[in-house]
Amino acid sequence: MKKLNIGIYGFGVVGQGLYSVLQKSKTVDAKVSSVCVKQKNKIRTIKEPLLTLDREKILNNPDVNVVVELIDDAAEAYHLVKESLYKGKSVVSGNKKMWAAHLEELIHIQNETGKSLLYDASACGSIPIIRNLEEYYDNDLLKSITGILNGSSNYILTQIFRDGKVYANALKEAQALGFAESNPESDVSGSDSLYKLIIITAHAFGIIVSSDDIFRFGIDNISDFDVQFAKEKGLRIKLIARVTKAEDGKISMYVVPEFVSPDKYIYNVEDEYNGVIIEGEFYDKQFMFGKGAGAYPTGSAVLSDITALSHNYKYEYKKRKYFKIPEFTNRVSLKVYLRYDRTEDLRHFDFEEIFEQYAGLGTHFVVGKISLEKLIKIKDILPGLPVFLGVL
Ligand SMILES: NC(=O)c1ccc[n+]([C@@H]2O[C@H](COP(=O)([O-])OP(=O)(O)OC[C@H]3O[C@@H](n4cnc5c(N)ncnc54)[C@H](OP(=O)(O)O)[C@@H]3O)[C@@H](O)[C@H]2O)c1
Repeated sequence: MKKLNIGIYGFGVVGQGLYSVLQKSKTVDAKVSSVCVKQKNKIRTIKEPLLTLDREKILNNPDVNVVVELIDDAAEAYHLVKESLYKGKSVVSGNKKMWAAHLEELIHIQNETGKSLLYDASACGSIPIIRNLEEYYDNDLLKSITGILNGSSNYILTQIFRDGKVYANALKEAQALGFAESNPESDVSGSDSLYKLIIITAHAFGIIVSSDDIFRFGIDNISDFDVQFAKEKGLRIKLIARVTKAEDGKISMYVVPEFVSPDKYIYNVEDEYNGVIIEGEFYDKQFMFGKGAGAYPTGSAVLSDITALSHNYKYEYKKRKYFKIPEFTNRVSLKVYLRYDRTEDLRHFDFEEIFEQYAGLGTHFVVGKISLEKLIKIKDILPGLPVFLGVL
């Protein structure tokens, strides 16, 4: 087992969680030599010389062989990860936004430098989805991965459906409990789920897709009318990230609220929990469930990556290495529910077929078939429209 000398960037929720978990774990021979943070005047549980504000202290220390990057700034994280690799250090990171934007380049630098990059904590916190996709699902039998990948939005939806709260109050409660960021945009708009879906897809199917090409719709416009529509049919609304391989081998992806029936595993994934369903050719469905965020669950996932490094573990990106990388397509049609408050907004949606239509006082809806290709064309105007969309 390799002896590890660790430099940590960030001592927030996850950094502190990792630090505590490391103190309690005897399974890894690791010493933390520096923890680098940003602000000078914060009260901390650790002090100098362990604590530093000098980012170069870790990078320029030749004894540090592992950099653990846990900061909340994706642009700076990217520079830190790159510089660490070029300085001959392996990296563990939980920064999904950074991975989703730079995965291709960082895999290349990893190969160039021979160092290792691990980031299981970046997708679904404590659920070990990435290493499982790498090692167990290293065949071409996967058909789809469906998940609730964001704990904050799931907490909000649970409060709405189970406890009868309205969106604004449920959001406030999620923020007060620390499940949602003070700026929750990334959670409720589906961006956070999308970053995770991009990472998961790279390991499941070998393809790295740009976030600009994937349709995403969040839960921030959900209304009492939408909730009532779901409840009358015995359904719950969940923010779902999905990647599917079609019969022709092409891959499609989206992050969209879905109306979920009680016979589905994810119907019962409640509160801040995450759930992932892996569907394959001969084994049907498997379900992974657990905490997707928080100091200790995420800290434990980071510890698991650190332990893996002590055994010289690397992601091999087997789906990219040994299989033909599939094509991505948005030529897939979905059955959706669209609620719109102004009649003129319907013209933006090019439905192929309409199954049901309702016009009420100030609220209207359509149930129909529309392609991801048509939806992605209007993705920039959608956030400004008073509409809600969900897959039925
Ligand atoms: N929270 C979760 O449950 C969770 C789950 C999975 C993944 N993640 C990911 O893990 C990362 C950390 O999240 P978090 O929730 O722990 O964030 P956080 O609580 O906001 O803490 C961020 C930490 O980063 C430090 N920092 C920011 N910019 C820095 C810089 N330029 N140099 C050095 N330190 C810097 C901050 O320093 P100061 O203390 O001086 O402000 C703070 O200690 C993010 O990428 C997040 O997406 C989080």
